[in-house]
This record gives sequence, structure tokens and C-alpha cells, in this order.
Amino acid sequence: MDTLSAAVVFSRRRRRCGWLVLLLVIAAQAATPADDPYAARRRALVAELGEDAADGTRLGPDVLAVMATVPRHRFVPASQLRHAYENRPLAIGQGQTISQPYIVALMTTLAQPRRGDTVLEIGTGSGYQAAVLAGLAGRVYSIEIIESLGAQASQRLRALGYDNVTTRIGDGYYGWPKAGPFDAIVVTAAATSVPPPLIRQLKPGGRMVIPVGSSFFTQTLMLVRKDAEGRVHSRQVLPVRFVPLTGAH
Ligand SMILES: C[S@@+](CC[C@H](N)C(=O)[O-])C[C@H]1O[C@@H](n2cnc3c(N)ncnc32)[C@H](O)[C@@H]1O
Repeated sequence: MDTLSAAVVFSRRRRRCGWLVLLLVIAAQAATPADDPYAARRRALVAELGEDAADGTRLGPDVLAVMATVPRHRFVPASQLRHAYENRPLAIGQGQTISQPYIVALMTTLAQPRRGDTVLEIGTGSGYQAAVLAGLAGRVYSIEIIESLGAQASQRLRALGYDNVTTRIGDGYYGWPKAGPFDAIVVTAAATSVPPPLIRQLKPGGRMVIPVGSSFFTQTLMLVRKDAEGRVHSRQVLPVRFVPLTGAH
């Protein structure tokens, strides 16, 4: 296991779904410019992800199709380029990481972003997860606490044409009340408990995906749902390891 990791799956069950992988590969071919030298590696990664399912959650075909179009190599430092399409987290500087692609696919699947949805991400990092969400949702708001990372990610997302992503620097524990309420919230750093401000900013019917637990031990990826009456339900999805949610809160 990669000790740098932001999000490593400790256990996962492999399932065959060859037809889905074939469809994804065809979709990726259609969406990839012919001169992209990373296209084949991206297709192979997405095909690999398409065969995985943990905790009975089948990764969304729409999520995988979008991941087949997002150039992960543009979100990693030059020193990590050759690893960009490996299914593992990578260092992005400042002691932070871009999450493992499998975890990005799983969290996005659980968050169920749909066209027209407003989604909040906590922990912009490289901007990769925000780009994946942007391919599925109407508008994405993303908060990063480390200024240099947030600034680079914002510039990168703009350069790549992700016009429906808005970023800001701040402590994501408090959410983004002015931009909410949100249909989905994806937290990409581990909190010791689910932040109450984020629950408040979830719409009825909304989904939040968040790693919860101590930074010293394995954490649990949680799916938190607010039902139509405003009641909150949560379930444990699987053990993960993320960098901690920092900040003065
Ligand atoms: C695993 S990395 C994020 C990966 C990112 N989503 C990506 O796609 O590259 C976690 C990020 O959360 C940020 N972070 C930690 N605590 C935070 C907080 N309280 N508010 C906002 N961002 C925070 C870290 O600085 C780090 O960039």
C-alpha cells in the first residue's frame, strides 16, 4: 500500500462485466482526440476500473465514460507523468495527493451527480475530482485550504475548459452556504466526524460522500443521505485512507 495515499481501497471485489468495459472503450475512443498520447493508457485504466465493484456498488457507466475523457496526466506534476494512468494516488506537492482513480469513480458513483445538479467538493487538490464531477453535474463548487494548490487547480480547470467549476480558498468544514444548498457533496479529506454545516447545506434528497475517522487509522467511507423529509441516514461503504481534513475548526 502506498503510504502517501489519500485514498486507498483496502479490499475490493472484482466482477466481470465485459460488455460494459467494451462500451466504455468505444465511448473513450469517440471522445479522445487522435493526437492524445495518453489516450490508450486512459482507456486501459477505465477498462480496469469498469471491472471493479466494492461493497456491491457497481461503478456508474456514466462516471466511467466521463473519466475516459478527463486527462489525468494534466492534473499531476511532471515528475508523476509516467504514473498518471496507474490506479493509485499520486503526490501533488504540499504533502497532498490526487486520489486513486478507483476511489474517484466510486465516490462519484455514490454522489450520483446529474445534469442540472449543484455539487460541492471539499479538497480541490489537483482539480481532477472536480473535473470528473463537472462532466456530470450542472455546476461544481470546490474549496481548497492550501492556497497554492487551489490557485494551480483553478488555473488548470480554466485552461482545460471546465467552465462550470468555481473554486475558492478556505476551510471546507464550513461548506459554501452562499452557493448551496447542494444536491451532492463530495469530501476528499478525512473528517473526524461528519461536519454539521455540510449536513445543513445538503438538499432534501441530497447525497454526501465523506471519509470519516482518525488520520492515524483506517477511515470509513460514508454515504450520508438526506431524505425528502430532511431526515439524515448514513451507511458505511468501505475502509479507505485519506489525508486529514485540516483547518482551525
Ligand atoms: C486527497 S486530496 C484531494 C484530491 C483532489 N480532490 C483531487 O482530485 O486531486 C485532499 C485535499 O483536501 C485539502 N483539504 C484538507 N483539509 C481541507 C479543508 N478543511 N478545507 C478544504 N480543503 C482541505 C488538502 O489540502 C488536499 O488538497
